[in-house]
Amino acid sequence: MSEQKKILVVDDDRDLCRMLERYLTVKGFAVDQAYDGETALRLVPKKEYDLIILDIMMPGIDGYDVCGRLKTQREYNHIPIIMLSAKSAEMDIVTGFKTGADEYVTKPFEIQKLMKAINDTMEKRRRAREDLGIKHEIKFEFESRYDYLDKVNELISQLFLRTDLAPDEIWNLKLAMHELGINAIEHGNKLDPKKQVKVSCALYSEKLEFVIEDEGEGFDPSSIPDPTAPEGIRRDRGRGIYLVSQLVDEIEYINGGCMAKMVRHLNKPRRAGAPRGPQ
Ligand SMILES: Nc1ncnc2c1ncn2[C@@H]1O[C@H](COP(=O)(O)OP(=O)(O)OP(=O)(O)O)[C@@H](O)[C@H]1O
Ligand SMILES: [Mg+2]
Repeated sequence: MSEQKKILVVDDDRDLCRMLERYLTVKGFAVDQAYDGETALRLVPKKEYDLIILDIMMPGIDGYDVCGRLKTQREYNHIPIIMLSAKSAEMDIVTGFKTGADEYVTKPFEIQKLMKAINDTMEKRRRAREDLGIKHEIKFEFESRYDYLDKVNELISQLFLRTDLAPDEIWNLKLAMHELGINAIEHGNKLDPKKQVKVSCALYSEKLEFVIEDEGEGFDPSSIPDPTAPEGIRRDRGRGIYLVSQLVDEIEYINGGCMAKMVRHLNKPRRAGAPRGPQ
């Protein structure tokens, strides 16, 4: 069963927004609407949109600006954007593509033409991801509060469903995510609810990759005492990092320590005596 694709429609013409919402919902998409650029930029980090339909002339931040801002951010530049605009001069269309639009449809438009643009751009994106070897990807942000960690667990479970990892192996990865999530909240963001933790998880045919990023000052992992050394065994610092290193195949702290990237290789034989979690 394929998942419902999420589309964000951004247009200050509310009637058009509602019309598109109804039409695309019938076509099986989950649709959100934004009537201005600010709202669109606020909504994008909250959901993993598969496509954005974007008007250009809007009060406040216009469509070119919204497109430019999203296309210059690593987390969002993969989301296809179709510009839908009454600006139909060649120069306007060129500007649209220059700011990073994937498609440009001029108003007034035929709905079939827009549908074709939607299907074509999504298909292009799917093929580009396949070329990278990515089979499934989940990205989200959460505020620095402990109760969000349960939500993270729930979200990443979608990824595990697509692997043939055993329940105890999944439990190990969830535990590693939990330790890194707590470190990002406590040590990185110092429990400041205004600071976000960004998580991205990707399933490739041969590996799972998780990246967790906080907005803190980072740290030097080489300065953390080894909790297994005789003099370190009683220290309560360093156990989380050590545990993670035992639970995944690769762990790397990048961006001065604000970002942790861990990798679990798939298709490898089970380790004898691997720690077993709940079944
Ligand atoms: N995201 C981060 N940002 C800044 N400092 C960090 C971060 N992650 C870890 N650290 C530093 O590394 C130290 C070791 O982290 P580790 O998870 O191993 O132990 P801990 O969090 O202190 O204790 P616990 O055993 O409860 O996890 C932390 O005390 C902190 O100083
Ligand atoms: Mg810790």
